[in-house]
Amino acid sequence: MCGIVAGIAQRNVVPILIEGLKRLEYRGYDSAGLAVIDQGEIYRKRELGKVKGLEALIAADPIQGMIGIAHTRWATHGKPSTQNAHPHISSQKVAVVHNGIIENHDRLRTSLQQNGYQFTSETDTEVVVHKIAEQLAIDNDLLAAVKSTLPHLEGAYALGVMYSDRPDTLIACRKGSPLVIGVGIGEFFIASDIAALLPVTQRFIFLEDGDVAELTIDNLVIYDKDGARVERPVVESQLKADSVDKGKYRHFMLKEIYEQAWAVSETLEGRFIGNRLQDSAFGHQAAEVFDQIKSVQILACGTSYHAGLVARYWFEKLARVPCSIEVASEFRYRNPVISPDTLVVTISQSGETADTLAALQEAKKLGVKHSLVICNAPESSLVRESDLVMMTRAGPEIGVASTKAFTTQLVALLMLVIAVGRRFSLTKEWEELIVSELFGLPGNIEKVLQLDETIEQLSQRFADKQNALFLGRGTHYPIAMEGALKLKEISYIHAEAYPAGELKHGPLALIDAEMPVVTVAPNNNLLEKLKSNIQEVSARGGQLIVFMDGALGESDDENVQIIKMPSVANIISPIIYTIPLQLLSYHVAVLKGTDVDQPRNLAKSVTVE
Ligand code: G6P
Repeated sequence: MCGIVAGIAQRNVVPILIEGLKRLEYRGYDSAGLAVIDQGEIYRKRELGKVKGLEALIAADPIQGMIGIAHTRWATHGKPSTQNAHPHISSQKVAVVHNGIIENHDRLRTSLQQNGYQFTSETDTEVVVHKIAEQLAIDNDLLAAVKSTLPHLEGAYALGVMYSDRPDTLIACRKGSPLVIGVGIGEFFIASDIAALLPVTQRFIFLEDGDVAELTIDNLVIYDKDGARVERPVVESQLKADSVDKGKYRHFMLKEIYEQAWAVSETLEGRFIGNRLQDSAFGHQAAEVFDQIKSVQILACGTSYHAGLVARYWFEKLARVPCSIEVASEFRYRNPVISPDTLVVTISQSGETADTLAALQEAKKLGVKHSLVICNAPESSLVRESDLVMMTRAGPEIGVASTKAFTTQLVALLMLVIAVGRRFSLTKEWEELIVSELFGLPGNIEKVLQLDETIEQLSQRFADKQNALFLGRGTHYPIAMEGALKLKEISYIHAEAYPAGELKHGPLALIDAEMPVVTVAPNNNLLEKLKSNIQEVSARGGQLIVFMDGALGESDDENVQIIKMPSVANIISPIIYTIPLQLLSYHVAVLKGTDVDQPRNLAKSVTVE
């Protein structure tokens, strides 16, 4: 989703902004642009496509400046085009980059046009820059003009604003979309996330909703939503610039798949005393909160939603904790019935997903007293708005298709099942078993990664296919969903997941030799049922690929290919069976030559509705 980088310094900021844009590429975008002020004039370059195209454009016709704003655009209003790319400029004097959506842009556009402003793009953003220019004509003060523009804007925004008559001042503001300030020595930067600024600083200020900041080379003043001057803490990040590097891997996604054993260990680290999970792993008031809750409501989107689906099985089956789960974008508008003693659990790798954030706010409005987030981004909006927090510590995940964030979410959720479940009917034996399996998980992940070559070969069977079906049962149904999502996200093959018992109620009609059917079939109490489902597919000429640690029986069926999995305990098998599905989608995408890390039309951090 759109990314902002901007800065004010005593050196040319163009290379810093270009590097920052590259580091935001993972968020997903379709065009990029940059503007600087040099000798009192605004110079702008924009390009459809990748940041390297913009970089080449600037190399061919260099621009420079000690203040600049830059942007990667993910189209919402108006197609991807150079014309629609940011920064947008008004009256040759004001330039703006924007992340978010201005919902009342139509109305503002009409009134600005009536006042003589000419629009050169189809974007909602352009109303912001003209509105600021209009206000500037009244009070000729950039900060005042921005402040008086904001009340006119409905929707969500993070903005970077500069004005050619004030090349010493950069304005940053946010409402509903993330924005962070990077604190340098004699320089300040702003960005949508800290990854963009790690080469120049590790000191950050996270703006709060409604904040407006005025930045000069040696001063920073922040005003809160009521206009009062405020101090915001400076946070020292532990991340290094090279922690967002591909290393020896061809793609970030492959690197991140291989990092999962490490990421899981990190997520478990320090949360136990001996074998005993500490309630405080979820925050200081966790014990008190867990003592009061009567049920759990999970809210999430995309891959994180799939993690929640697995957790629902765990909560109810192992601990009899009533657990509901809903896609956040549905929950927020459904006017649901929810009791105040429910623990609302949001799951999000980015911590900035607009729908998840709004669903949490909706739950609070409906009277829910306790919230907990499972998140991979410290200081993100969801972390700040939740009472209890469990960080997944997977490290930066750059590939748009989520991998290590997902498996660490499952680990965090298992810990939550223990902490909440022991207040319901989770037995001591089960608790001990889960803990010991969690401790053994990194080793089992290493084992399953050894299947990489086998899966690479298998991927050839998918390269010319248009469709694929994924089947699973129980906790492995959401894993089948996640496998299907991965395949469609990065290889653009249409893939659907079904709980295997539903096959005969529709999808069986799709089965023929052109339809690969991927089946997740660990050796558990549902295996016999699943075997019947496998037979139903095979009898109709379907091409089955079965991931299993048991045996199929009398199978020398040429329609069936079995991928032998390591035997692991049922409790952690959803995590283990995810990994070959990630590898499968990765290798299919590589064969198809798609943009693995930044698949078309998708974004890593979905900060708009
Ligand atoms: C986007 C990402 C997915 C992610 C989903 C939810 O679609 O591409 O990988 O699962 O958003 O994001 P969240 O950050 O809330 O987990």
